Amino acid sequence: MSDKIKGMRKGLANYGDAGFSLFLRKAFIKAMGYSDKALDRPIIGITNTYSGYNACHRNVPELIEAIKRGVLMAGGLPIDFPIISMHEAFSHPTSMFTRNLMSMDAEEMIRAQPMDAVVLIGGCDKTVPALLMGAASADVPAILTVTGPMITGSHKGERLGACTDCRRLWGQHRAGTIDEQEIEEISGKLAPGPGTCMVMGTASTMALVSEAMGMMLPGGAAIPAVHADRLRHAEATGERAVEIAREGLKPTSVMTEASLRNALRVLQAVGGSTNGVVHLAAIAGRLGLDIDMQEFDRMGTETPVLVDLKPSGQGYMEDLHKAGGLQVVLKNIAHLLEKDALTITGRTLGEEIEAAPPSWPQNVVRPLSDPIHSGGGIRVLRGNLAPNGAIIKQAAATPELLKHRGRAVVFTSLQDMAERLDLPDLDVRADDVLVLQNAGPKGAPGMPEAGYLPIPKKLAAQGVKDMVRISDARMSGTAFGSIVLHISPEAADGGPLALVRDGDMIELNVEAGSIRLDVPEDELQRRAKEWNMPEFVDIERGYRRLYFQQVLQAEHGCDFDFLRKYPLNNKTL
Ligand code: FES
Ligand code: MG
Repeated sequence: MSDKIKGMRKGLANYGDAGFSLFLRKAFIKAMGYSDKALDRPIIGITNTYSGYNACHRNVPELIEAIKRGVLMAGGLPIDFPIISMHEAFSHPTSMFTRNLMSMDAEEMIRAQPMDAVVLIGGCDKTVPALLMGAASADVPAILTVTGPMITGSHKGERLGACTDCRRLWGQHRAGTIDEQEIEEISGKLAPGPGTCMVMGTASTMALVSEAMGMMLPGGAAIPAVHADRLRHAEATGERAVEIAREGLKPTSVMTEASLRNALRVLQAVGGSTNGVVHLAAIAGRLGLDIDMQEFDRMGTETPVLVDLKPSGQGYMEDLHKAGGLQVVLKNIAHLLEKDALTITGRTLGEEIEAAPPSWPQNVVRPLSDPIHSGGGIRVLRGNLAPNGAIIKQAAATPELLKHRGRAVVFTSLQDMAERLDLPDLDVRADDVLVLQNAGPKGAPGMPEAGYLPIPKKLAAQGVKDMVRISDARMSGTAFGSIVLHISPEAADGGPLALVRDGDMIELNVEAGSIRLDVPEDELQRRAKEWNMPEFVDIERGYRRLYFQQVLQAEHGCDFDFLRKYPLNNKTL
């Protein structure tokens, strides 16, 4: 009998009779058909994140089979268990709203059930951060694998991928160049199989930064979902899970200050999703750490974007896999990484980089001398409009708009934007700044990916493709444009964003790292006195109530206050 079953819940489930408690556990585990011999080995839990709603996790059943094979080969007993699954398109009001719920599910079920180690199967955007947050808090030996990116689709000879091309083609539909029938046809071609969005969206970003952080076996992030390598990686993950159970290698030994800094560095180098910043801040908070946004900004200035994937570049994840995956990126920025960081292999990141196969000629991962974008992917902004910070994905912005002064056109909510954005008489010009309020962590709620405000129809029809857009929302990692996000504090929490009015002048200067509202201080104070907390924040019951009471701002990863590790040791990354 596994020690874990024998010793489970000492003092909790025994109710004073340890012998009876063990007898009971044996009886129920044997009801699953196991023999004593099968139970006499390390138990490896496997989070089953399959769901009929989650196409990004369609291949989870075959991954579980491969992981189980690896566990059995290494002498462990695999037991999969269900856990919340979330797909970006089917999570109302947003997947960010339920990410913390998934992290709580992961933490408590890892803790509640007897297991010596756990394999985490992530994939779609919020699942990887939720699992890592939960695993960091439970701190049982854990190893991550992912479902992997989708392969690309094609339409009229043009290669397509979710969901950078979704936005581009929908933009053409809005502008009238793609008709109803064709856009319908395209919807069947954008996501042609199991796996995660195959551009450098949040799922790809989180897979890559998790590998860089050392929580996944090398090479795992970029393998397409349908590739046989994906199953071999899962099998190897199962094998390694048994070893980390025996070694007692815990997540808090792998997810450390150094490995999180490496993850932030890689986030810049791959041109990763802005959501990566929020999720890494949440993971850091579970370890009692805060991310120093100025340091992250500084990393960006010395870490160019090297990976030529949409939306900053041209390719898709399958191209990155063929080019050698993350290991090529790590080699190219090795001098910037903290190589002593321990990985789940038991070796350091530096040792893994040295052991990586030699690179071959390819044009997906660029050398430092020829980057996609010379500054990092993401720039941190501050100013009177964002006292606690905001970010912009400069690599995916229009260079001419990175320094811009324009008139504010304000939408007070998502609803307001939906109702007025396309009105023919909306007073808006191409050089205006579109402002969306009340779309932050509390405001919408769940900080939806609404920061990519559509270009007003009348301007889109004139051929306007980009404008400066600012909000307290997030943006899909697959989107592009001159878009300022995560303004903190958010409008619904009384941040200065709530005080912007139509016609105010806003100044964006990405090079200087600033975002300013050009309104006199006394006028801002007058408006602040008039401001009231939106009524919808006052929810009576349930998870929503917990959410509103506990959710933190973007710089703290939108985690719940009570889930962070306190007291924070005042350490910043
Ligand atoms: Fe799941 Fe994009 S919808 S990764
Ligand atoms: Mg996404």
